[in-house]
Amino acid sequence: MINVAICGATGYTGLELVRILLNHPKVAIKALTAKLDKPAKISEVFPELYGRLDMVCEELVVNQVLKKKIDVVFLALPHNVSMEYAPRFLDKGKVVIDLSADFRLRDARIYEKYYGQKHIYKNYLKQSVYGLPELYKNRIKGARLIANPGCYPTGSVLAVAPLLAKNLVGKDKIIIDAKSGVTGAGRRAALYLHFGEVAENMKAYKVGVHQHIPEIEQELNGIAKKSVNLLFTPHLVPLKRGILTTAYVGLKKGTDVPKLIRLYKSFYKQSAFVKVYDDGSLPQVQDVVNSNYCAIGIALSPDKRHAIIVSAIDNLQKGASGQAVQNMNIVYGLKETTGLV
Ligand SMILES: NC(=O)c1ccc[n+]([C@@H]2O[C@H](COP(=O)([O-])OP(=O)(O)OC[C@H]3O[C@@H](n4cnc5c(N)ncnc54)[C@H](OP(=O)(O)O)[C@@H]3O)[C@@H](O)[C@H]2O)c1
Repeated sequence: MINVAICGATGYTGLELVRILLNHPKVAIKALTAKLDKPAKISEVFPELYGRLDMVCEELVVNQVLKKKIDVVFLALPHNVSMEYAPRFLDKGKVVIDLSADFRLRDARIYEKYYGQKHIYKNYLKQSVYGLPELYKNRIKGARLIANPGCYPTGSVLAVAPLLAKNLVGKDKIIIDAKSGVTGAGRRAALYLHFGEVAENMKAYKVGVHQHIPEIEQELNGIAKKSVNLLFTPHLVPLKRGILTTAYVGLKKGTDVPKLIRLYKSFYKQSAFVKVYDDGSLPQVQDVVNSNYCAIGIALSPDKRHAIIVSAIDNLQKGASGQAVQNMNIVYGLKETTGLV
């Protein structure tokens, strides 16, 4: 069995990890931590876990977690917090799967600009592997520190990657417009997330300055092997979970939808969790909620010069905890789909 600790178990991604890992045949949950005033059973925090996991969730103290003989630590912690803990587990030989942004951006100066704090463990950036299995499965196999991708970047990069990899993208800006449900912002209370603010409402936010812009650029540049021109705008929509992403990509030359569908199916043929829809079908959030799938649909502008790619993911699954477990499966040589739906 793989013994795991979940740090940040009282958050949305932490709870999702618990839900997934309770059904994972090769995993035993050994430790849960949060920032609680006093230890509490996780089933008291989340009554849905009564009788399934009554383990006490404790304050995060590295030595106490290490006593539980863990193999893997999932850090479902806010950015800047993960950074403090990841090195201490890594230095003790543990596999760290960090759901925060702290080890995703290779350039610490960009991290500092977008996340507003100094990166105090730059030396660990070199060993971190960006945990998007559809692109980096081989690197993930040998990784000890996995920087689990952000939710918007997952939906965005998977939508555009095949076009960039095949060098079909022209000089126009790549425009990505994405809409997320409210769990994407975490469980901590905030005025803008109150029911009265979110229900029957929709809004763009952090336009031009969202912290996922450099992450998406980093990955798209890497696939294209040059700088891409990106415009990314996120929106908050009145859903609990799910992200719908629409990417508008100018092409070097006109094409047709069946050709693009063939290209995408071929690009993702080894990717257990990417579904490319057939001609005419576009994914909806409800197609993927509560699953680790990314569903992709393909359309063209009337002049056939712009591909319009729509992707749907569940932000807590493929956008976070499902992907984290997928990465753990790869590290341990398990079938990638083990414990995931
Ligand atoms: N939500 C998503 O869809 C999503 C998707 C991809 C990536 N992520 C990333 O995943 C991470 C977790 O996200 P989330 O949405 O699960 O956040 P969340 O709901 O706010 O949960 C954060 C967790 O971290 C704990 N925590 C907060 N500050 C801490 C500290 N100083 N020391 C120890 N524990 C602390 C919290 O404990 P208390 O409950 O006791 O405060 C809680 O368990 C974030 O970095 C986020 O950006 C989230």
